[in-house]
Amino acid sequence: MKPNRPTGFGGRGPRRPPPVQPSAPGLASRLAAAQAISEVLNFSRALEERAGEAEGAAASLDARDRALARSITAVSFRRLGTIRKALGRFLERGLPKRAGALEWVLIVAAAQLLFLDVPDHAAVDLAVRATRLDPGAAPFAALVNAVLRNLARARDEILAGSDPLDDDTPHWLAQRWRATYGDATARAIARAHRDEPTLDLSVKSDAEGWARRLGGIALATGSVRLESHVAIAELEGYAEGEWWVQDAAAALPARLIAAGPGMRVVDLCAAPGGKSAELAISGAKVTAVDRSAERLKRLAINFERLRLEAEIVVANALVFEAAPFDATLLDAPCSATGTIRRHPDVAWIKRQGDLSTLVELQSRLLDRAIALTRPGGTIVYCTCSLEPEEGEGQIAALLRRNPDVRRVPIEAQEIGGLDECLNAAGELRTLPCHLQGPTPRLSGLDGFFAARLQRKP
Ligand SMILES: C[S@@+](CC[C@H](N)C(=O)[O-])C[C@H]1O[C@@H](n2cnc3c(N)ncnc32)[C@H](O)[C@@H]1O
Repeated sequence: MKPNRPTGFGGRGPRRPPPVQPSAPGLASRLAAAQAISEVLNFSRALEERAGEAEGAAASLDARDRALARSITAVSFRRLGTIRKALGRFLERGLPKRAGALEWVLIVAAAQLLFLDVPDHAAVDLAVRATRLDPGAAPFAALVNAVLRNLARARDEILAGSDPLDDDTPHWLAQRWRATYGDATARAIARAHRDEPTLDLSVKSDAEGWARRLGGIALATGSVRLESHVAIAELEGYAEGEWWVQDAAAALPARLIAAGPGMRVVDLCAAPGGKSAELAISGAKVTAVDRSAERLKRLAINFERLRLEAEIVVANALVFEAAPFDATLLDAPCSATGTIRRHPDVAWIKRQGDLSTLVELQSRLLDRAIALTRPGGTIVYCTCSLEPEEGEGQIAALLRRNPDVRRVPIEAQEIGGLDECLNAAGELRTLPCHLQGPTPRLSGLDGFFAARLQRKP
């Protein structure tokens, strides 16, 4: 192979993998995965942010290679702690300094060797080729070969010794979840993060019928859960706007408003619109506010397909003014640690220090939500976070500072009888280990918090 040597990699600046040089079958997908991993770990750039773009190196890949790059990337983050620990064991002197893209290439190869159905020789060979393409990493091609062969030989032992909480969860999160939920539940959360996420649909009506037609199951909560991930747009009912993709837990908060015809409801952080759609289906007059015009474009497209209507407003909810609404939904920006199973990179991007800024913003948004609601009206506050400061703590602080607000407990029958998802105060607290089904693919929920409040009449 005569690689077309790229320039500008390795040496100074953050380490990036080499650009795609698809000179060997399968190499391009590995390089694309390495690039995605480096962007997350070097620049804290969430994979979701790349999804709407050309996906960097993945842009030139065919559908199969792109799917493989995504699988490698996802499992690399799902099991990053185990992968790093295993690599560390065979890199006797640690990762060499100034080694260009070496680390990303090793992670990509280790992910295949440990977790994917890829022949060992292919994973190792492509890693060595990728190493040689990068001037910074190239001197370490023999090391890559040796480390990966050792790792493949020790595979069974590595997997048997890997712990979901201690190895595959960043230490600060493991510590917090232990403190908040206890050791057994923290472990169950981390265990649930190992599996691929579920594919849940929110349907306009007839969940049983759609479950039958699409080969899924109708959950007690009203969502339809499908067995496997498929090309969504090709499924029956998509083009007709009969359903949209939304985790079963994310479908719950909007329902707690019990919206209906004649009600004016505002969704203050609305885009891309899963919860606004839930509100609009009820016949309520919905105002969908978000500060991101880009994300509201997605809401508009979703609403058009679903044949739903909403007044769409690009605005910062902190300064948004309108006549008081009958009800307000605030799905506040948060650390998103409840979505790690769906977005495993989130675990490695977030920092403990991010929390206080978010908590402060949520608290201000919550005050604004109350001000925008008429006396006697309902406010539902929710976050897709497992961190109590963004959920239970936020509501406790609000009730202390604002005597005009009371909590209206949520009843189990409003959420499909899921008692395990309600706390003693009548707040919703779903965890990734809740709602166990017959297989991992049919099990679990995003981690959500929701509380229902009333502005006193
Ligand atoms: C958790 S997402 C909302 C998801 C949405 N509710 C759904 O179900 O599809 C949080 C949203 O809050 C928006 N946001 C953050 N700060 C905001 C602010 N000050 N005013 C309005 N929107 C804001 C973000 O742009 C983002 O779209």
